[in-house]
Amino acid sequence: MAQVTLSEIRKSYGSVNVIHGVDLQINDGEFVVLVGPSGCGKSTLLRMIAGLETITGGTLDIGGRIVNDLDPKDRDIAMVFQSYALYPHMTAATNMGFSLEHRGGSKAEIEERVNWAAGILGLEALLDRYPRQLSGGQRQRVAMGRAIVRNPQVFLFDEPLSNLDAKLRVVMRGEIKSLHQKLKTTTVYVTHDQVEAMTMADRIVVLNRGRVEQIGAPLDLYDRPANRFVAGFIGSPSMNFIEGTITAEGFATAGLTVPLPIKAQSHVGGPAILGIRPEHLRLDPAGIRAEVLLVEPMGAETQVTMLLGNTQVIGVFRERVDLSPDTVINVMPDVAAIHLFDTDGGQRLD
Ligand SMILES: Nc1ncnc2c1ncn2[C@@H]1O[C@H](COP(=O)(O)OP(=O)(O)OP(=O)(O)O)[C@@H](O)[C@H]1O
Ligand SMILES: [Mg+2]
Repeated sequence: MAQVTLSEIRKSYGSVNVIHGVDLQINDGEFVVLVGPSGCGKSTLLRMIAGLETITGGTLDIGGRIVNDLDPKDRDIAMVFQSYALYPHMTAATNMGFSLEHRGGSKAEIEERVNWAAGILGLEALLDRYPRQLSGGQRQRVAMGRAIVRNPQVFLFDEPLSNLDAKLRVVMRGEIKSLHQKLKTTTVYVTHDQVEAMTMADRIVVLNRGRVEQIGAPLDLYDRPANRFVAGFIGSPSMNFIEGTITAEGFATAGLTVPLPIKAQSHVGGPAILGIRPEHLRLDPAGIRAEVLLVEPMGAETQVTMLLGNTQVIGVFRERVDLSPDTVINVMPDVAAIHLFDTDGGQRLD
């Protein structure tokens, strides 16, 4: 196991800069998830850690060694890809043992390691099968088996579950998490599924256009996003944003003033954006007038899309609301759960 430290890491392809100086310290045994929109540089960053991509600037330290110029095979890391990348003509066991064989392990040693990994991953009965004889989830497990047999210092995962159906994704998510609890290997995991990020991570790194927006524990990011980008990216459905003005009485918007929980005195008179999560809106006759656009009952809760002034917002209500499109309701933000952002850079205001 090892600590991984990225200092001022940069990447450019020709004249195009895609990673603009990333600083990140991943502790020994930690499970860190990189999230961000498509094209923000998640895979590039992971591939630089793996050694599959050259590093344009900065230093990468794995386990106390600067590894910028080290070959992937000398970095003592194992990577699991979205596509599994199994050899089709080899059985599960051979796929899993291949890298050990490559390093000159003895037959007995390899067999022991493969059996150990198969035991952890529940693959004992499938070792003689070829990839085409395995389901997607089983193939993904073989790909993980291939990573763990080597007992590397660091695991890297690039969207390993995105080819699986929704149900299997949930199962495998739990398996990867419990694998980490057993092995405690330092892990960097890339996904753009923010539920995966929330449930698996010790810490989440939110990336945007090649820069770190925020690093923190999942619930810290959820409860105190540093800026509007993180606020909108973490959480599903996304946080609602309402434009208005901060006055001495509170936040004024769409003909109503919402009291503010925080001292926003220094911003009085200025424009601001109020952020409120869908679950923090409640039906209240004294609330803001909203026109219902869409009602989606989901069993445990009902999701209501509505127009508030000319801003579209979503409310999630635990009670069984009986609403239809075109009706008018009144909603009130839970004052304690309000976030405020400035209108320019979108920075958090408290
Ligand atoms: N070989 C390359 N040459 C030029 N540009 C590249 C190359 N590889 C990646 N890029 C660019 O670098 C940026 C980051 O790409 P990257 O694959 O890291 O994104 P990502 O966050 O993994 O996205 P996704 O969620 O879609 O997988 C993108 O704008 C991409 O177009
Ligand atoms: Mg990617």
